[in-house]
Amino acid sequence: MKPDKWTPERLEESANYWADRLVLEAAALDLPAQLAQGPLTADELAERLGLDARAALLFLDALAALGLLNKETGRYSNTEEAARFLVPESLDYLGHRLRAARDSWELWARLPEALRTGQRQREKTPFRDDPVAARSLLLSIHRNARSRAADILLNGSVELDDRRRMLDLGGGAGTYSVAFCRAYQELHSTLVDRPIAAAVARDVVASAGLEDRITILEYDVDEGELPASYDFIWISNVIHSRSFNANRALFERLLSRLEPGGTIAIHDLIMENDRTTPPAAAVFSLHMLLNNGVGRCYTFQEVNGWLDGAGFRDIHWIRDDEELSIVTATR
Ligand SMILES: C[S@@+](CC[C@H](N)C(=O)[O-])C[C@H]1O[C@@H](n2cnc3c(N)ncnc32)[C@H](O)[C@@H]1O
Repeated sequence: MKPDKWTPERLEESANYWADRLVLEAAALDLPAQLAQGPLTADELAERLGLDARAALLFLDALAALGLLNKETGRYSNTEEAARFLVPESLDYLGHRLRAARDSWELWARLPEALRTGQRQREKTPFRDDPVAARSLLLSIHRNARSRAADILLNGSVELDDRRRMLDLGGGAGTYSVAFCRAYQELHSTLVDRPIAAAVARDVVASAGLEDRITILEYDVDEGELPASYDFIWISNVIHSRSFNANRALFERLLSRLEPGGTIAIHDLIMENDRTTPPAAAVFSLHMLLNNGVGRCYTFQEVNGWLDGAGFRDIHWIRDDEELSIVTATR
């Protein structure tokens, strides 16, 4: 699909980001949570959030002007939407997504430096040594991934009927292990991820009551021995964070972890050869440059090359979504 035409209005939209930043900051400060018990004055909120009193007043008035808060007789309260989407106890809570976006904002501000040097702009690796950012990011990914997992099951994009042992490599919060094990009663999954993500996955798996069918292993797949004897390997949104050579080496190691006849499925933003489609993938590649300096989105031809080179067969590209797609192959 071609992106929208660049009209003056669309260009203006790119310049109008101040209001977005205010909303992200309100979410990152958990401001609506402070108002969950009732209205507060600017001074009370400033004290609770550790803000300068005058700055808080300007900030709160702007949020009221944007319709995120109500203001009545000098006291601020949550609008219905703020209470529904930005108070952590709400089932529709979107705060993790906005917090993760706010963390990325700082990173994207360093784009000129990344473009000039070609180097990553984040000191810490979020999934490895930044537990607070990692939890927000993983819960935000989890929120979106739940509906994607449901779509995959509905589309029948991966065949799991006769599969019993799944390896969920870089499984994150465990979204796909949980969704697939719920849908297929005889499936067991082993989720491998680094300690920070494994801790989040343990919570998600426990709240799904699937501890007996999902095993969580904590380690870095590039450093530890990979577990073996799986009939289904699932790698979702992992290859884009790795270099070309690291991915090639990983697939070479994975072939022997799969039983003969087993399937591997790679779920990611897979690109056309021109590397401009899907547009979201082209933009995401810059996010990876900023994050770790080595990742980017890969084309089907590149993924096909790794799999074929490692000895996988029957390689197929399943384009079941506008952005994310799946490449499957068998041993
Ligand atoms: C973007 S998240 C995707 C999580 C999940 N697979 C999903 O699609 O919702 C990427 C995950 O891969 C994990 N990961 C990346 N490289 C890894 C490595 N070398 N060893 C273990 N886990 C890794 C990260 O820790 C993170 O949890």
